[in-house]
Amino acid sequence: MSGHFESFFPESGSVDYSDQSTNIDETTMAELRELAGRYPQPRSALLPMLHLVQSVDGRVSPRGIEACAEVLGISTAQVSGVATFYTMYKRRPAGKQHVGVCTTALCAVMGGDILLDRAKRKLGIDEGQTTPDGQISLERLECNAACDFAPVMMVNWEFFDNMTPEKADELLDKLMRDEEVVSPRGATITSWKEAERVLAGFPDGRADEGPSAGEASLLGRRIAEERGWKAPTPGASAEPTAQKESEQ
Ligand code: FES
Repeated sequence: MSGHFESFFPESGSVDYSDQSTNIDETTMAELRELAGRYPQPRSALLPMLHLVQSVDGRVSPRGIEACAEVLGISTAQVSGVATFYTMYKRRPAGKQHVGVCTTALCAVMGGDILLDRAKRKLGIDEGQTTPDGQISLERLECNAACDFAPVMMVNWEFFDNMTPEKADELLDKLMRDEEVVSPRGATITSWKEAERVLAGFPDGRADEGPSAGEASLLGRRIAEERGWKAPTPGASAEPTAQKESEQ
C-alpha cells in the first residue's frame, strides 16, 4: 500500500525564505500599526495586515511575516501559520494580474474545467504559477458565490460572468498586452497589488463602480415579489408558504 499523502499544491505549502527581497518601509510599518489599532484585540488585524504585505511585496514575504509579528507582539510561527492556511495569501509572487477560474460544481457543469485548461495552455503555465514576465498568475478557485453567473472567472477578485472560451481568450489577450479591462459588473481592473491594498482596508474610492447586483441574482427576488412569497416567520410552520405556492 502506498499510503503517502500528496498535496495537490506541492509548491504552495511554505513561505519562500530563499527570497528575502522586500519593499516594506516605514510607511508600510505605520500602516500595519494603523490596521492593528482598528481592532479591540490587535491580532484580529492579522488578515488585513497580510493583505497589506501582499500589496507591497506581491506575496507574503519573510520580512512581511516578521513585520506583522513585531507589530502584533506574536511569534513569526503564529503569523506564518495563518499565512499558509489561506489560499488567498501567496507564498510566491503573484502576477500583476491574478486570474482565477472557478471549477466547483456549477461552474464545472457549465465548462469551468475547459476554461481552466484553455487558460493554462494559452498562458503556458500551470495553476498556481505566474508567467515568466510576471504579468499573469493563474489559480483554480472554489465557488465564488456567483453560481447564477456560471461559469465565472475572476481577475484580482473582480467577477467575469457567464464566461465562454472565446471571452476567456479575449480577456487573457488583453491582460497579456496590459490593456485596460473592465469587469462586466463595472469595475476597471487595476492590478492585484492595488486590489490587495483595498482588501487590507485602504479603499480606493471605486467600490461603487458598476451595479451592486446583476439580473440573475435579482430574478428570484422579483418572482417572489410578483407571487407574494414571503420568508417564513422564525418558528412558524413552513406549510402556509408551501400552500400558497401550490395555489399559483
Ligand atoms: S460554482 Fe462557481 S461560483 Fe459557485
